[in-house]
Amino acid sequence: MAITRTSIWSFRSFCYIIGLLCVFSFLSVYWCRCPGPCYSQVWEPKQKQTINLLAFPSAWNHIAFPSEPPLKLLKIAVFVKKWPHRSQAGGLERHALTLHLGLAKRGHEIHIFTTFPSNSSFPRYPVSNLYFHISKPTAGGFLDQASVWKQFQTQNSTGRPFDAVHSESVALRHTRARNLHNLAVSWHGIAYETIHSDIIQELSRAPEEPQAHALAERATKVVEEVKFFPRYAHHVATSDHAGDILKRIYMIPQERVHIIINGVDEAIFKPDIAEGKEFKKKIGIPDSKSLVLGMAGRLVKDKGYPLMFEALKQMFEENSTFRDTTVVLVAGDGPWAARYRDLGENVRILGPLDQAQLTKFYNAIDIFVNPTLRAQGLDHTLLEATLSGKTLMATRLASITGSVIVGTKIGYTFSPTVKSAKETLYRVWLDGRGALEKKGEAALHRGFELFTATKMVAAYERLFLCIASGGNNNDNYWEFHSPVLF
Ligand SMILES: *[C@@H]1O[C@H](CO)[C@@H](O)[C@H](O)[C@H]1NC(C)=O
Ligand SMILES: *[C@@H]1O[C@H](CO)[C@@H](O)[C@H](O)[C@H]1NC(C)=O
Ligand SMILES: *[C@@H]1O[C@H](CO)[C@@H](O)[C@H](O)[C@H]1NC(C)=O
Repeated sequence: MAITRTSIWSFRSFCYIIGLLCVFSFLSVYWCRCPGPCYSQVWEPKQKQTINLLAFPSAWNHIAFPSEPPLKLLKIAVFVKKWPHRSQAGGLERHALTLHLGLAKRGHEIHIFTTFPSNSSFPRYPVSNLYFHISKPTAGGFLDQASVWKQFQTQNSTGRPFDAVHSESVALRHTRARNLHNLAVSWHGIAYETIHSDIIQELSRAPEEPQAHALAERATKVVEEVKFFPRYAHHVATSDHAGDILKRIYMIPQERVHIIINGVDEAIFKPDIAEGKEFKKKIGIPDSKSLVLGMAGRLVKDKGYPLMFEALKQMFEENSTFRDTTVVLVAGDGPWAARYRDLGENVRILGPLDQAQLTKFYNAIDIFVNPTLRAQGLDHTLLEATLSGKTLMATRLASITGSVIVGTKIGYTFSPTVKSAKETLYRVWLDGRGALEKKGEAALHRGFELFTATKMVAAYERLFLCIASGGNNNDNYWEFHSPVLF
């Protein structure tokens, strides 16, 4: 057979094309193999797929639930030890407030079983389908189980029975909850996770301080929890790490463990450069300060304030350039405020801020620093700073690294030692404002997909629809066709 010029040419180009294809496929395989929680891999493809929510292994926040209110409106009972007076409240209470106000606004009938506030004033909300059933707390400040159960049964037998029941932590004891198949409990801190805090505290204990009993007692506490947790029908883990522990250590069947990370109100916490500038001007931060670090929360030992104090003190002493260019804003108050004031001009203690001021504070800073030593769920402040478009620096605790600071594109993590805190702070400082802004954008992009109140409300709504329908296969709420954000 005669070989013509054209056929040689086409054979050659064929080889080139094959070669190019090989290179491309090699590159794409390489790209996709990006190890760990890689940012680009998490965000690029939005695959359409059918999900069995019962077996969904990651946070439900990754699922794009529809925004229209559902056809079926639910009657939901909520048990929570305390109801927050305002926005200044701990994580659990704020979670209850944001979530159930959101569900009420979507049309569900919400009945909240809680204790008398320490004040006589009880907040009012502009929604008519939110009902409070208040009782006297026990001496220990818990919900009096006999009284709330009576209130609950009265409500259950008037009008229509409850479709779903929600307990914030152990507000409804397992002794009452054990027979409720349509119940979900949200855990905001479990004993196994806290062991990490106990270890950190023990390591940082001064030799003259007595050894804390917590460390030895914690293991017993874990065993107790492993025994009674399964009595609750469904479990909501508020971080990926807690979800893993509930399944692996607490041995709760995976179809009863659902991960829903808390969300914060995206209408309140959002980037606003002008507001940030104004706030800086108001408190008199000169332009020569090229790094504004922000911390927020109660200034107590548990939240890592002594550790951060020692790190900053050493850095201000040993590096005059760092001292001249850096300012630390601390929103909050507590026993450590006075010590921080001793650090001088570089540290501004702003006291407790209301929500409006807090949003300005987040916008004014370059990076949000959370040195918490409490390995219990996720601090809301991390999520608020994220939605304000700020990069984060936080302690290397599993819930934080597993759900929020999932890589160096989002922020910085450090080990809870003065040495590691200093190294990381120096890195933040040397990276500079531009790099911090980039990380803040990446954090915002991811946070806006995952940590909004809207996202959290949609996920819980779906969960309540699922458990309300019980074994009714016609409803099929457990099955979902959706793009998943991975
Ligand atoms: C009691 O009410 C006042 C305002 O009326 C509020 O500032 C304060 O935080 C409340 N205390 C508690 C514990 O809720
Ligand atoms: C609530 O009412 C329904 C319908 O009457 C009943 O089946 C259910 O057992 C009641 N739940 C409780 C905990 O009493
Ligand atoms: C401060 O630290 C930086 C970075 O490590 C270093 O380049 C600089 O020389 C130090 N300045 C002083 C005054 O120690």
